[in-house]
Amino acid sequence: MTALPLHLLPDTAEVTATGGLSVGGLAVDDLVSEYGTPLFVYDTAHIRERCRQAVEAFGDTAVYAAKAFLCRAIAALVYEEGMRIDVSTLGELATALAAGVPGDRLVMHGNNKSEAELRAALDAEVGLIVVDSFDEIDRLERLLEADRARPKVMLRITPGVEAHTHEFIRTGHDDSKFGFTVSTGAADRALDRVIESPFLDLVGVHAHIGSQVFREESFAEAAAIVARYAVDRGLTEMSIGGGLGVPYVEGETAPTITDWSKSIHDGVRTAGFEGRIWAEPGRSIVAAAAVTIYRVGTIKEIPGVRTYVAVDGGMSDNPRPVLYGSGYEAFLPRAVTAERTRRVRVVGKHCESGDVLVPDALVPEDIAVGDLLATPVTGAYGHSMGSNYNKVLRPPVVFVEDGRARLVVRRETIEDLLATDLG
Ligand code: LLP
Repeated sequence: MTALPLHLLPDTAEVTATGGLSVGGLAVDDLVSEYGTPLFVYDTAHIRERCRQAVEAFGDTAVYAAKAFLCRAIAALVYEEGMRIDVSTLGELATALAAGVPGDRLVMHGNNKSEAELRAALDAEVGLIVVDSFDEIDRLERLLEADRARPKVMLRITPGVEAHTHEFIRTGHDDSKFGFTVSTGAADRALDRVIESPFLDLVGVHAHIGSQVFREESFAEAAAIVARYAVDRGLTEMSIGGGLGVPYVEGETAPTITDWSKSIHDGVRTAGFEGRIWAEPGRSIVAAAAVTIYRVGTIKEIPGVRTYVAVDGGMSDNPRPVLYGSGYEAFLPRAVTAERTRRVRVVGKHCESGDVLVPDALVPEDIAVGDLLATPVTGAYGHSMGSNYNKVLRPPVVFVEDGRARLVVRRETIEDLLATDLG
């Protein structure tokens, strides 16, 4: 079978009577007529379902990692579903606040938080600051001398767990820019210091071992280490960060949020921790909720070499293939279940050869210029890591649910591009 594995599509995706794709009860063709291409289509029922699983598994300390995908609409949606939000820069903080999310539902992250970012987090009275370095402790204490309420903090530790994922998105091993290293004793020194601090209210210990991790054992192992720290220091809270992987291509499977939570709880139990466990899933909430729809512009056949199919987006709306060699499937929304027997390279419109979306894509034999082409599982770290390379305009984002579409991020315009350019 070479047809698209349908489980990679958003929950409400359906094949229409004519074989086309609909999401949220709306035909993709109609969405494209309205909003053009490239277009990110998000199934909000899918996101709500993942939020519910996270809240069911972790309760009031389920946190959505906003770096995966952030705009005001998603912040409001996950907040409405009972999740807190992890923000890691001034921009993410400001976006969540602009969506009406109260400060105490926010968790402030970042390995190099500036004074301005810390001040903004304190002004917003965020619910938790995850402290990452000794320099940050200094910076925070300086700000807090000015008579402010003691913020709740966790210390991010680096537990030395290999997460079996791409090296750029692995963070739990010793050679990492993040957190206080366990093996060097830095984690203990930092805990000693913060426990003594008159300015900080230490509530727990945090670790995030990496992203797109499939092995439940890695999470259980890290959870046990973090839990032991919390127990030793009499702390009642801990966080296991995010990192749960999702399937992107044929043949991949991943634990569900519920399975993930079980292995974390098992790991924690071995350490005798009985307090609250925080978790920060990003990718597993939004990745599979979206498909990106492109238009095929050129097809170049090089006999004996390969065929290039160029679409109207590329590394500016999905840099993951270029950055991490991440795999994606491709399909034609007009023929969702068609056999895909033609092997092509799907590339973008940027001025470099590395601008590849799917190096070895299977597509139907009759793919033609003018067709829509879609890549599933593009809801995480695509839009959020997008760029204006080659001054390409960033695509819009549309939320679909129950037969209704809502444009939540409009397409950029040339005026937007020139707005910060003072000439
Ligand atoms: N918490 C912390 C402290 C994090 O640094 C991250 C992700 C998360 C939670 C959420 O992790 P998730 O559940 O989404 O795996 N751009 C890369 C992923 C970088 C992840 C950075 N931190 C990619 O496209 O694969």
